[in-house]
Amino acid sequence: MSNSIKVKSAAGLYEAVIGNGVLKEEIQKSLPDYNDDTIFTIIDENVNRFHSDLIDDSLNHLFDTVHKLIIPEGEESKSILSWSRCVDFLLKNGIRRNTPVLVIGGGVTGDLGGFAAASVLRGVPLFHIPTTLLSMVDSSIGGKTGINHHMGKNLVGAFYQPKRVIADVMFLETLPENEWINGLSEILKYGAIRDRSIIDDAELFLKDNFKSTDPQQLIGLISKCVQVKADIVKEDEFESGVRAFLNFGHTFAHALERSCGYSKISHGEAVYLGMQAACKLSSLTGSELESDLLEKFSSLYNYRVSKEELSYDELLQHMNSDKKKTDQFIRFVLLKTWQHPVLKTVNDNTLIRKAWEAAFDKL
Ligand SMILES: NC(=O)c1ccc[n+]([C@@H]2O[C@H](COP(=O)([O-])OP(=O)(O)OC[C@H]3O[C@@H](n4cnc5c(N)ncnc54)[C@H](O)[C@@H]3O)[C@@H](O)[C@H]2O)c1
Repeated sequence: MSNSIKVKSAAGLYEAVIGNGVLKEEIQKSLPDYNDDTIFTIIDENVNRFHSDLIDDSLNHLFDTVHKLIIPEGEESKSILSWSRCVDFLLKNGIRRNTPVLVIGGGVTGDLGGFAAASVLRGVPLFHIPTTLLSMVDSSIGGKTGINHHMGKNLVGAFYQPKRVIADVMFLETLPENEWINGLSEILKYGAIRDRSIIDDAELFLKDNFKSTDPQQLIGLISKCVQVKADIVKEDEFESGVRAFLNFGHTFAHALERSCGYSKISHGEAVYLGMQAACKLSSLTGSELESDLLEKFSSLYNYRVSKEELSYDELLQHMNSDKKKTDQFIRFVLLKTWQHPVLKTVNDNTLIRKAWEAAFDKL
């Protein structure tokens, strides 16, 4: 069984399909509409290593020519150089306005390949095939594409909606355990800002061997998250209001990732710590969060960075240069109560430091 969730955007309506073993069928259903004998795939190196047979089998009988570009794993691939390689690959192989581009991988490949599809010929049909938990619940939905700049994360990019998202949980069988935990952070984010039942459902991660969870249970959880994101994107596609709530924990997280050179901490780990800091800052600025709903997941995170390696001054500096600040103060997504986010400008560095300290107690 698969679920289909409609995502509404200014560019039109598209579907996000979440299922188990649905890739071939979904490709067969949606790609022939493009009436082109050529297709381009931009694919993560590990996904290619584990799943190229299935992907080739799904595409080869539909297209005469399948062009493939393999993207090296890691955040470093979200660079101007990699974007330029993607654009070269598409243009040199003669892409046309109607030629579909399949971007297959996690958030890194999705953001990079999505931005290449958005920019080449001012936009070609994009299909997201997310293969990590994080990309299934978050990055493949809502049209944010982009790359990093040495000034900070995701500073160059475009809003560009895909034609369809095909999330096949079969891919997750080969996903390393720490990458599942990265995805968990974004799942908990939806639970914190919108739907308490998501946090309850996420308790499946607390079981031994959670990777062998019943696929239907997983499809249910992913679908709930996608629904929350689709609802928020429908309300505010270009982030002038409620979409900013999806950044809960992220102002802290981005500063932390930057301080760690994008290598010593993963995005998901940084988001979990960032949410802890945001909860603390919420309490310090007058909110009443009666209990810590996120705490029970803390033992699942194994950090490679210690408190002593981090400088509060540097973190504050990074937060100040984050693109989400307004005027001279930093704007945070905080919680009034659980599931009730608010945007707050905080100008007291002592409170921000205390919030960091609370998060670093987890390290
Ligand atoms: N566009 C958005 O709205 C949005 C939202 C959230 C996060 N992001 C971005 O997403 C990125 C993080 O994405 P991510 O967590 O998916 O990381 P990722 O893309 O780096 O993938 C994580 C690792 O898993 C491997 N991998 C992927 N699929 C696999 C599979 N099925 N089997 C085995 N290995 C597999 C990759 O090779 C990589 O080593 C960050 O750059 C973040 O900024 C974007």
